[in-house]
Amino acid sequence: MTKAKIAKAIPRRPFVAGNWKMHRTASDTRSLIEDIVGRVQKVATVDMVVCPPFTSLPAAAETLGRHSILALGAQNMHQSKEGAFTGEISGPMLREFGVRYVILGHSERRQFFNETDASVSVKAEAAVGYHLRPIVCVGETLTQREAGETNSVVESQVRGSLAHYPADQLDELVIAYEPVWAIGTGKVATPKQANEVHRLIRKLMASLFGAKGSGVRVIYGGSVKPENAAELMAEPDIDGALVGGASLDARSFFDIIQAARPVRASEND
Ligand code: PGA
Repeated sequence: MTKAKIAKAIPRRPFVAGNWKMHRTASDTRSLIEDIVGRVQKVATVDMVVCPPFTSLPAAAETLGRHSILALGAQNMHQSKEGAFTGEISGPMLREFGVRYVILGHSERRQFFNETDASVSVKAEAAVGYHLRPIVCVGETLTQREAGETNSVVESQVRGSLAHYPADQLDELVIAYEPVWAIGTGKVATPKQANEVHRLIRKLMASLFGAKGSGVRVIYGGSVKPENAAELMAEPDIDGALVGGASLDARSFFDIIQAARPVRASEND
């Protein structure tokens, strides 16, 4: 199937998530959520998610109240329902606060906390079992890119991280392509560089899961800012963004959401 045909056959709604990482206490969370909600009221064509730290989730949920326009996500999850796993948080614990998404296998988790494709795969399968939508992250390091290994690294991460993923839950899945060298560095991949990898992921998803696989949203992450968001999201295989630093500023986050809006909205008509 050509790209155009895929886009037509399976409309992909733009998706923008803010990954707050280890930023914002519960009290700071309230004001940031209020500020974001105040700005995004009229956005009806983009799925919008914020992922605060675990301890800020209750404050975020409380502040959001009935404002379901903005969904809540967590930054990690343990696969077990409960148990002797000191320092971990389970899916049902997240669900209790209305969390709908969970970022899995972020490169910082892989780099600093020994997450592997195998652990991500187990978590992704468990997450959908708890009715949490996984945002599964993949991406190459600078050394790997310079060695010409980008495609093979990303392919093996996608295969490994989704090894146990149930084929009937593809609607719940989002894949984030985040080149490690672009995260928090200000070095953004060019739209063409990013789109090439997104296309590779989409083709791989089609070969792993069939037509439904190619309809899974693939979003870009790594130094996304209001200044570069529009040109990234104008690419045919980039369905949105996973935003770190710029998501901590309500105005920047809103501007990125706006950049996701018009292109996809017209494509999906
Ligand atoms: P950044 O982070 O936008 O600050 O580069 C992106 C991410 O790590 O998800």
